[in-house]
Amino acid sequence: MKFDIALIPGDGIGPEVLDEGVKVLEKLQHTSDLSFNFQEFPQGADHYLDTGELIADESMDELGEFDAALMGAVGDPRVKPGVLERGILLKIRFSFDQYINLRPIRLRDSKYTPLKNKSPEDIDMVVVRENTEGLYANSGGFLRKGTCEEVAIQEMVNTYHGVSRVIRYAYEYAVESGRNLTLCDKCNVLGYAHDLWQRCFQDIGEDFLEVKKDHVLVDALTMKMVRNPEELDVVVTSNMFGDIITDLGAELQGGMGMAVSANINPEGLSMFEPVHGSAPDIAGKGIANPLAAVLAAAFMVEELGAEKEAAKIRAAVDRALEEQQLTADMEGELTTSELGDFICSILE
Ligand code: NAI
Ligand code: MG
Repeated sequence: MKFDIALIPGDGIGPEVLDEGVKVLEKLQHTSDLSFNFQEFPQGADHYLDTGELIADESMDELGEFDAALMGAVGDPRVKPGVLERGILLKIRFSFDQYINLRPIRLRDSKYTPLKNKSPEDIDMVVVRENTEGLYANSGGFLRKGTCEEVAIQEMVNTYHGVSRVIRYAYEYAVESGRNLTLCDKCNVLGYAHDLWQRCFQDIGEDFLEVKKDHVLVDALTMKMVRNPEELDVVVTSNMFGDIITDLGAELQGGMGMAVSANINPEGLSMFEPVHGSAPDIAGKGIANPLAAVLAAAFMVEELGAEKEAAKIRAAVDRALEEQQLTADMEGELTTSELGDFICSILE
């Protein structure tokens, strides 16, 4: 199987960790019948500061030709917060209608969770986050900006189309994986927006009577994630809540260096990335943890249909955890590229 993969390394540690993801995929080419044709896209802070361009229409058209995209991270202290994130990352998510953000929260080894007495069986959930609407739709505006009477309004956009498709995807995911489904919202306060979510959840649930379902308010969900994570399987939620609860989830499973995210358009281009950002505080030092990027590459390979090869990469990551062949954020001593090399040595 041959795949065309777009690489968007981005900023800070993005290129450092993506290099290791690519190294692992290149290794896989020698040990399986997979083959990859990579093309790098330069978008990010340097490209923006040099050219004034975030991502041109031609680059977007070009991206659309690929089988999948793998991203590092964007964001740079030299650029006003949000410019690169909205102009590149959100632009790709929205333009390619990547309406599902799939974020597994899976503890791979008990040593690495801050929770007491919790095992990999207990911390094993998947967040299905709506990825194109909600508070991220950037709808709103200012009135009397810069005065003491300023009004800033940020609207939460929920469409029947957007809500129903993510909920249907979550039910299908629950059926395929034989797991329970939890709706996470704040319907007790967001009486319009999350009333729509409630109705969609109930109505679409009629088509999936075999799925055991329940509902948890977002604040209670954060308690449950810490106290009783074993009660959570598949969680479907809105864009902003999904963003926040998956950072909590990232810590439960061993930290930002391990958390992965897939922006999925089931009929089009999907993009895979670490949950973490460009980490300017450690960029250029060669100490960033590449495991999230490596696991993002595994996630991509799985979504492309090569489940066995994805499992091989994950098993190699498990070996690194077991043998504590890790970077400093996980109390290891390896550099970014040494850890990538270790994963490759297991794949031999
Ligand atoms: P961040 O995730 O970049 O960093 C948070 C903390 O975690 C930092 O202390 C960092 O050193 C550490 N960290 C993150 N990834 C790590 C790794 N692989 N290995 C070891 N330590 C790691 O989040 P922060 O600092 O809030 O944002 C930095 C920049 O990244 C901002 O410009 C932000 O907008 C952007 N960002 C981009 C994202 C993306 O491209 N998907 C996602 C989140 C933030
Ligand atoms: Mg986030």
